[in-house]
Amino acid sequence: MGKLSGKYAVVTGAGKGIGRGIVERFLEDDVAGVAILELDEALAQATAKELDPTGERVLPVRCNVADQESVQAAFATVEQHFGRVDILVNNAGITRDAMFHKMTAEQAKQVMDVHFYGTFYCCQAVIKGMREREYGKIVNVSSTSAFGNVGQANYTAAKCAIDGFTRTLALESIRKNITVNSIAPGFIDTEMLRAVPPEIMEARIKATPAQRLAPPSALAAAVSFLASDDSCWVTGDTILCCGGARMRD
Ligand code: CAA
Repeated sequence: MGKLSGKYAVVTGAGKGIGRGIVERFLEDDVAGVAILELDEALAQATAKELDPTGERVLPVRCNVADQESVQAAFATVEQHFGRVDILVNNAGITRDAMFHKMTAEQAKQVMDVHFYGTFYCCQAVIKGMREREYGKIVNVSSTSAFGNVGQANYTAAKCAIDGFTRTLALESIRKNITVNSIAPGFIDTEMLRAVPPEIMEARIKATPAQRLAPPSALAAAVSFLASDDSCWVTGDTILCCGGARMRD
């Protein structure tokens, strides 16, 4: 028996990086089933096959979280296979970094669409079922960039939107035994960081007390707590998971 035995989960953007790390951790926690919602269908299928060669517990589903119809179709597929969703992790994310004086409205819109509206659409897809069953764990991936980060006015705004949304949804949901939290990673060692200039990466690592980047598994461990019944009295919170980097920012 693991922490997530008998539970069905969805993780968005789980083909690689942090999302994949969360799926790996949920499998270790004995989850009954976990769906990988991913824009890149081939990547979703390859990841599912690697993590679960028998195909019994990991379900790859193509989904563009920024498109409500695509989200509805993806969750219909998940419900058909698993019957219900107990745990939702809104992890899908993109960056369109630029100094604000060079940023376009389109760069802001793209980031808002994936992060905020993606989270909004996915929560809407599960919330009614969770309320009826009086059980649910929602974890929204925010970022330490919500506190401000040069070159990320769009991303900061989207992550703050997610944190605020999380608090109100938590208030509305706790009477139905649904917890809603966000988690704010610092710089985690994923492909997303490859776009960051080397001198900025160096400064970031220096500003992290441990002087190194964390692997996705470090964040996944905290998500596992928020997705499990161990966090029954934690809701509406944003948990920092940044190796203490906020003390130095
Ligand atoms: N405060 C104010 N100004 C600063 C600054 C700071 N801390 N650091 C640099 N600047 C200034 C520079 O001096 C320079 O000024 P001038 O134009 O007057 O010379 C200007 O900002 C930047 O100049 P560049 O020519 O380098 O700008 P650019 O347009 O080529 O690149 C950028 C800008 C795209 C923002 C690039 O610097 C960048 O990619 N930065 C990294 C952004 C970042 O941290 N992204 C995080 C990605 S990971 C992630 O998002 C995951 C997560 O959740 C944490």
